[in-house]
Amino acid sequence: MGLSSNRNEIEDLKKENRYVGVRKGSSVNGAVGSRDRAVFRTKGKSKISWVCEICGFSSGQWWGSCRACNEVGTLKQFLEAKTGSGNKVSGIEASENAVRSWLPQKPGESGPLRLTDVNRGMNLLTWRVPLSGLFGSEVERVLGGGLVPGSLVLVGGDPGVGKSTLVLQVAGIIADSEDLGGPAPVVYVSGEESVEQIGIRADRLEIGTEELYLYSSTDIEDILRKIQHLSPRALIIDSIQTVYLKGVAGSAGGLTQVKECTSALLRFAKTTNIPIILIGHVNKAGDIAGPRVLEHIVDVVLYMEGEKYSSHRLLRPVKNRFGSTDELGVFEMSQSGLAVVSNPSEIFLTEQHSDSDFLAGLAVAVIMDGSRSFLIEIQALCVSGSSVSRHINGIQSSRADMIISVLIKQAGLMLQENAIFLNVVSGIMLTETAGDVAIAAAICSSFLEFPIPNNIAFIGEIGLGGELRSVPRMEKRVLTVAKLGYKMCVVPKSAEKSIANLGFEGMEIVGCKNLKEVINTVFKA
Ligand code: TYD
Ligand code: MG
Repeated sequence: MGLSSNRNEIEDLKKENRYVGVRKGSSVNGAVGSRDRAVFRTKGKSKISWVCEICGFSSGQWWGSCRACNEVGTLKQFLEAKTGSGNKVSGIEASENAVRSWLPQKPGESGPLRLTDVNRGMNLLTWRVPLSGLFGSEVERVLGGGLVPGSLVLVGGDPGVGKSTLVLQVAGIIADSEDLGGPAPVVYVSGEESVEQIGIRADRLEIGTEELYLYSSTDIEDILRKIQHLSPRALIIDSIQTVYLKGVAGSAGGLTQVKECTSALLRFAKTTNIPIILIGHVNKAGDIAGPRVLEHIVDVVLYMEGEKYSSHRLLRPVKNRFGSTDELGVFEMSQSGLAVVSNPSEIFLTEQHSDSDFLAGLAVAVIMDGSRSFLIEIQALCVSGSSVSRHINGIQSSRADMIISVLIKQAGLMLQENAIFLNVVSGIMLTETAGDVAIAAAICSSFLEFPIPNNIAFIGEIGLGGELRSVPRMEKRVLTVAKLGYKMCVVPKSAEKSIANLGFEGMEIVGCKNLKEVINTVFKA
């Protein structure tokens, strides 16, 4: 790009800005030049396209259902600002010019580069911004390593779940990082809160770094211009729904704005190598303004989840260009922000668990979520003599029916005359077959009125013949049980040998071939 053409573009950009200023009535001298009026007139032309709010598929005409994902009635009108030459500078181009004009141009931008040249002299493992500390390493694990320079990370989640808190803590860590040769600026831009409000929050989170800069703005061009002299180590935008790009149709939070702002930030991140963390709200309807449409544009999508009445927060990668999506971060919201949970496997166990020595119908199963294992409690209640019915919560009813039938037919339990209630504690939905043995054990315990000691866990799938089958990641599950100090773990016979070889001191591994063996082992008087 030549110097003169660059200057022309900057001139165009200035006009573009003035044009917006005139329209808003904020022109300094009130005079509108004839060329500016020309811009004003040509601005009106824009291309209409239809974009699916679920998958982001774009089409030139309206369809009743999306041709990509087949969802009905999801196509929304999208006004694309027309790109052109001369005076007709669109908002998209303008943002690009604003970014490009002050950036050192990379030599590689002129054409394709050989892979070996790109990677030469660069250690890809250190090509990341490390996040130190306990909290930092938990976020790092979810990201598949540190923050990749030039990447665009989207943190989505329901309003109030703790996104701003999480990202502010991450910003504090990056700003303070000693691993990168000492502190460096990080800019936290909020369109939702004033700098004082963020300041109060940062105080509560005990972030005391000198290098965290706060800025309250919603204009993307203004933001990029203002942070220019800081050349920060990372940029945070809270939230994508509050920022806008001048010259692009629609109000902030609308599809057009959200998409164009994200694209502008993506270009900014890629040209400057500054990583950007975006916050995005998901609304209940999964509306178009939510981050759904953005998932295609950004490099990493993390979702923050949390139950309303629980202080635990889960951070889950949904898309990750630099790592696995098979991770799960577990945090706890406290008075002073998010903290790492020391024993995440236990978070779904009830606190009164020590009393369950006296409670029949409780059994512990081990489930996997991503690469993490969790212990969960299964409750069963068998009531004889009442009307025969089944009430199942948290387990697929077809799976529960199968297990009950196998108990009747293959283990000889007289459950026919019973009403059976099944429940998974903490409101989790059990989708794995690894919980089968625990379900069967809970039913037996209630039916026989024989409490299962609270230091036994069950892992395994049940077949129609009543046989116990192995499930994926047996070792990992058993390891979790052992770590939590359980005394006995009931596993399928086929898996017993390989697990016993791992040597778990203080925990007995009991291999059972079928349900009868489980009953004989656990419920012996
Ligand atoms: P916030 O990060 O503002 O959520 P989001 O950005 O996703 O809308 O967090 C909101 C909740 O977090 C709020 O209800 C209060 C709670 N919170 C704490 O419990 N402790 C804290 O230290 C902070 C900062 C927030
Ligand atoms: Mg927020």
